[in-house]
Amino acid sequence: MIMKKGLILVTGGTGYIGSHTVVELQNSGYEVVIVDNLSNSNRDVLDGIERITGQRPAFVEADCTDMGAMRELFETYKGISGIINFAASKAVGESVQKPILYYRNNLNTLMNLLDLMGEYNVKGIVFSSSCTVYGEPDENPVTEAAPIKVATSPYGNTKQICEEIITDVINSGAPFKSIILRYFNPVGAHPSAEIGELPNGIPQNLIPFLTQTAIGIRKELSVFGDDYNTPDGSCIRDFINVVDLAKAHVIAIERMLEDKSEEKIETFNLGTGIGLSVKELISAFERATGVKVPHKIVGRRVGDIEKVWANPEYANNVLGWKAEVSIEDTLRSAWAWQCRLRERGIM
Ligand code: NAD
Ligand code: WQD
Repeated sequence: MIMKKGLILVTGGTGYIGSHTVVELQNSGYEVVIVDNLSNSNRDVLDGIERITGQRPAFVEADCTDMGAMRELFETYKGISGIINFAASKAVGESVQKPILYYRNNLNTLMNLLDLMGEYNVKGIVFSSSCTVYGEPDENPVTEAAPIKVATSPYGNTKQICEEIITDVINSGAPFKSIILRYFNPVGAHPSAEIGELPNGIPQNLIPFLTQTAIGIRKELSVFGDDYNTPDGSCIRDFINVVDLAKAHVIAIERMLEDKSEEKIETFNLGTGIGLSVKELISAFERATGVKVPHKIVGRRVGDIEKVWANPEYANNVLGWKAEVSIEDTLRSAWAWQCRLRERGIM
């Protein structure tokens, strides 16, 4: 019998980044229990995970803000050794319209987990943060030491507050560790095209809008602004492959569970270190897939950051993690996923 390395609770595990992380955890020998309220995902994702790994993770449909349901989960699944907390509401625009929903969901989810961790002897929690905490950075590439800027949306503010909550709880002497991961722009899908991003309604993010345009669901992609202070005038981002990103979570879990660091709380940027403009990304997609993307330049989108990309050296050196998948392969994976959704009649 193969000994499992430990039981990991993955909140939001049927979501985009969560599902890819569950695959990497299972492939690395961890046992997984997912909790998700399916507010932004569906059960079919479990089939995709099973087709890739040959294992179906345990699944609990529950809301992480419901303390009673979470306690029941911890009672049922004894011996959870680590948590990865993906569960959150994540649409920037919606957070401006419904701030209370965002504060309640994102903060209460985290606080319930932190409360239960002490009680159930969980060794560590990985938290999904975002480069949004840096706002418009003074310098690129951005290191972890860059100043945290005033948040421009309630969503962004929840990430800043959650980071502070974790810091305060750890500093109060909590008997567990935490690793905060600040993702840049996660994109792409699993190379098997069994799992990927499933946006609800009209996508707000670039890649899903682009692939939906390429397949004909949307008429045209709007490029939001070409008058920025960048070489081609369009915004610059650091697009990080979702499988690369998922692998960093496994390393982070291992680091806490095996006490590889003296630190009780650590924060890492997860990006490629390469800034790519929106126009460059569209060209890269067309080159990589041979598929044209009808697009036009329109005005700037309110609240957009001009340019931001990561200095990932801290994660490279300390975690031994590095983004490996090329942008071409990443874009091909996003396209294969979009085509798979079409084959299945989903989109
Ligand atoms: P996602 O919406 O695909 O996944 C989140 C999952 O959490 C969904 O399956 C949703 O149903 C679930 N969920 C939400 N609230 C819940 C609750 N109260 N109880 C149980 N389940 C709940 O999002 P994602 O892109 O996979 O993002 C995962 C995490 O990474 C989020 O915390 C997000 O803020 C963060 N993040 C995402 C990005 C990005 O661009 N995708 C960038 C930086 C950070
Ligand atoms: C990328 C670039 C757009 C759509 C958001 C959140 C951030 C993080 C990641 C969670 C921008 C341009 C987009 C389109 C376009 N999420 N664009 N046409 O804004 O960098 O980050 O997701 O933490 O917090 O703010 O990502 O994919 O929306 O945009 O021209 O139809 O693509 O203007 O320059 P963003 P995005």
